Amino acid sequence: MASMVDVSTILNPEGSSEVSPPERLRFLLQRLEGNSLLFQQNSLSERLLAMDEIDALAGGTASTMSEAAAFAEIERRALTLQHRLESANAELYQFIRTEIIGGHMQTILRWLDDLNPEAQNALPRPGLGFDARDDFMASLFQHSDPGDVSSLGSREMIAYQPTPVRHVLHLLKTVTLSDDDLFVDLGSGMGHVPLMMSMLAGVRSLGIEIEPAYVANAERCARTLQLENASFVAADARDADFSVGTIFYLYSPFTGSILKQVLRRLREQSLKRPIKVCSLGPCTCDLAKERWLKTSGPLDPNRITVFESQ
Ligand SMILES: C[S@@+](CC[C@H](N)C(=O)[O-])C[C@H]1O[C@@H](n2cnc3c(N)ncnc32)[C@H](O)[C@@H]1O
Repeated sequence: MASMVDVSTILNPEGSSEVSPPERLRFLLQRLEGNSLLFQQNSLSERLLAMDEIDALAGGTASTMSEAAAFAEIERRALTLQHRLESANAELYQFIRTEIIGGHMQTILRWLDDLNPEAQNALPRPGLGFDARDDFMASLFQHSDPGDVSSLGSREMIAYQPTPVRHVLHLLKTVTLSDDDLFVDLGSGMGHVPLMMSMLAGVRSLGIEIEPAYVANAERCARTLQLENASFVAADARDADFSVGTIFYLYSPFTGSILKQVLRRLREQSLKRPIKVCSLGPCTCDLAKERWLKTSGPLDPNRITVFESQ
């Protein structure tokens, strides 16, 4: 009796569980190596997808000696292809950095649009989680490893985690900015938010961050990209200078008594001039309890909320 053949295995050997991982990787490499479009400058999303596909299949284990030798050869090919893809990306990122330095911010907006996996959604996906736009911005920023920075000094201080790019883009759309504004990120980490605000909206921005190694990284990036309107200071938000800010941003950088103290200081500023306070994460619920702050939009801790002082 003729054996039954699974047609999906023939059509898609890379995805079939009938085919061993080394064989699936070999099929994948065959398809990718023959695709010259992949190495054209503009094929960034295709390259990122290809790199993910290779990552998912590489690093498997062989069960026999001969399989191990064949696998080692396939893995070498995979590594060579990864390097080619990475250097095509590096060339593109360098080109985009030159565009930023030249003030051509439309280029970066076009790329962010192109990499948007949720183009059909009016609102960004709520909450945590990153997408290709986060990898893209991180590659442009080229932050170096800040080393061990585990001593925040208080359990009320929240460890570094960048705002996902989709929320920064939402913030840019939601908040009204003028030339007189100065955007202040309280607990700015490596500076993604101020850097993007200055880069994409041209607004002056300031990052206040307690960890000097993060500040050094943010400053280096602003210098390299010649973003003269973005500056950073290593300070505790409890006693940093707030007098210059008009729009303050908090991605839940601290809780409890520190948050209370900082909100008191923001309230004092609001008695001198109108200010806006934007938030993301659990601190949005604390801001909503402040009687001097009002929002006209929906109150959702998983997306950006913009409050105005009353
Ligand atoms: C959740 S991260 C937010 C990072 C950044 N705002 C962003 O959205 O990409 C919180 C940051 O606040 C910083 N931080 C915590 N307590 C602080 C304080 N008292 N003063 C200044 N920065 C603080 C932490 O070091 C960390 O980088």
